[in-house]
Amino acid sequence: MKKRTIGIMGAMPEEIEGVVALLSNCVEASMGKRTYFSGQINGIDTVVVFSRWGKVAAATTATTLIHEFKISELMFTGVAGAISDNLKIGDIVLGKRLIQHDMDARPLMKQYEIPLLSQTYFESDSTLLDSAANAINTVFENNSLYAVIGEDELMEFNISQPRLVIGDVASGDQFFSSKEQKHALNTQLPNILCVEMEGAAVAQVCYEYEVPFTIIRTISDTADDKSHIDFPSFIKKISSKYATEIIKNIY
Ligand code: ADE
Repeated sequence: MKKRTIGIMGAMPEEIEGVVALLSNCVEASMGKRTYFSGQINGIDTVVVFSRWGKVAAATTATTLIHEFKISELMFTGVAGAISDNLKIGDIVLGKRLIQHDMDARPLMKQYEIPLLSQTYFESDSTLLDSAANAINTVFENNSLYAVIGEDELMEFNISQPRLVIGDVASGDQFFSSKEQKHALNTQLPNILCVEMEGAAVAQVCYEYEVPFTIIRTISDTADDKSHIDFPSFIKKISSKYATEIIKNIY
């Protein structure tokens, strides 16, 4: 059986800071403008890296984790903009299926189909998804976020009873910052819960290399005219706390 080594990617330095602090015997390696932090969390070999933004950045980082660090599974933690009206800032989405909303090779292929893979959605691993769901539910049940996030920050984003939702996530090289953009995606793909810029690229690499993966996304903004205000503030004040609490409970 392949040795267990978990790769953890985050799209912002703030998102991985707290996770890196969980590593014992931490060793750093620099490659391709990334710093890979290797060590153990609860005795399990783990490599943590800030992937940078967008599908290309995420795909190259995932490939390096697979080739250089021989990871056996991959977790992505980050933020996303809400597309579904049922999601609020502070809710968490686990991506059951990932789609690249900017893939369009028509008329050669159907819209969104990944060329030469005959595949539109990539499914995350059900075992990893279940253990992430259990960890997130534990974080919510224990109210542990309230211990690490200040009252002012929770009030600023109106976070009171965050929820976990599992479903479809769309990724593409676009930051959603208008209601027109949001509406267009919602009309084309009404099943999509939230939008981000890396998950489906990681999912494609993991599919091609047969590495199980899970994508964990906290809602940082509502993917509309307010997102350029909410997103940086959420990243600065809240997102790293979510990532750390969830990862602590996954191990
Ligand atoms: N990640 C977080 N918020 C986002 C948004 N509004 N658009 C794309 N990716 C995001």
